[in-house]
Amino acid sequence: MDLSRPELFDFHGVSMIHCFTEKWDKVQNFKARPDDIVIATYPKAGTTWVSQIVDLLSFGKSDPAREASIPIYERVPFLEMSIPNFFMGTELAEKMTSVPRIIKTHFPVQFVPKSFWEENCKIIYVARNAKDTAVSFFHFDRMNMVQPEPGDWPSYLQRFQDGKVVFGSWYDHVKGWWEKKQTYANIHYMFYEDLIEDTAQEIEKICSFLNISPTQEEKCRVRREVGFDVMKKNEMTNYSTLGVLDFKISPFMRKGKVSDWKNHFTVAQNEQFDEVYQKKMANTTLRFRTEI
Ligand code: PPS
Repeated sequence: MDLSRPELFDFHGVSMIHCFTEKWDKVQNFKARPDDIVIATYPKAGTTWVSQIVDLLSFGKSDPAREASIPIYERVPFLEMSIPNFFMGTELAEKMTSVPRIIKTHFPVQFVPKSFWEENCKIIYVARNAKDTAVSFFHFDRMNMVQPEPGDWPSYLQRFQDGKVVFGSWYDHVKGWWEKKQTYANIHYMFYEDLIEDTAQEIEKICSFLNISPTQEEKCRVRREVGFDVMKKNEMTNYSTLGVLDFKISPFMRKGKVSDWKNHFTVAQNEQFDEVYQKKMANTTLRFRTEI
């Protein structure tokens, strides 16, 4: 496997790297099934957390061995990822026999393969406030050897605002999916901050969106299993089994908090960020919380 840091390039107006565009035609022609559940996010929004919740709700009772023996990135394939001889999201998903298939994507809404819309698949979109996303993404890029070199924090923060990070502009991503929700009923748009504040309530909302009615006991079990400390210790959710991540630099399950941005942004960076934010988010009703 080639572990050299990839270069960003413009792909249909979005900054991308090779491993997410290489199999473009195959990904675009992916055949969704009507009962597929998609977890769509901008990177670092809580994808793994919600993936584990949905997987436990779907299989925790019927197939407990699945949770105990298969890493999250195999239970919930990353659709567009393709690293030769290592990982191919589409193939992993195609081979799946379990129902429902739970599929992860970081695509901006306009890149989603059309069969997901045609099959009217249920999609859970998770969004996280821009400041904490930028911090989490920075540390992820430091430790993930198949992401572009992040450089130092000030330059990274500038590139984040310019959309010059993998999967492009955070602003366009969250707004694009928010707009889609106005016309496509099968999107449940949720927020990382709400999940932190009241995990049980957000699990309830997911159950109702997915039309499932687990017992109180099952829901309590899911709640316990998806606590930050439990997932951090769990080798099937903490990504420690994936060779391309350097945990000596930073863990995947890093802090799991709202407002860690306060430990990274200077006062000047925060003021500049807020100014840009207001301009870029002026044309949307979407609102985020940067503290709870
Ligand atoms: S990825 O690589 O884009 O799929 O990453 P993603 O899973 O979306 O986001 C990783 C961040 O989510 C945090 N996380 C959690 N927070 C609270 N509770 C639980 N259970 C949990 N699981 C994952 C993880 O720690 C990353 O955030 P930071 O701020 O870096 O800690």
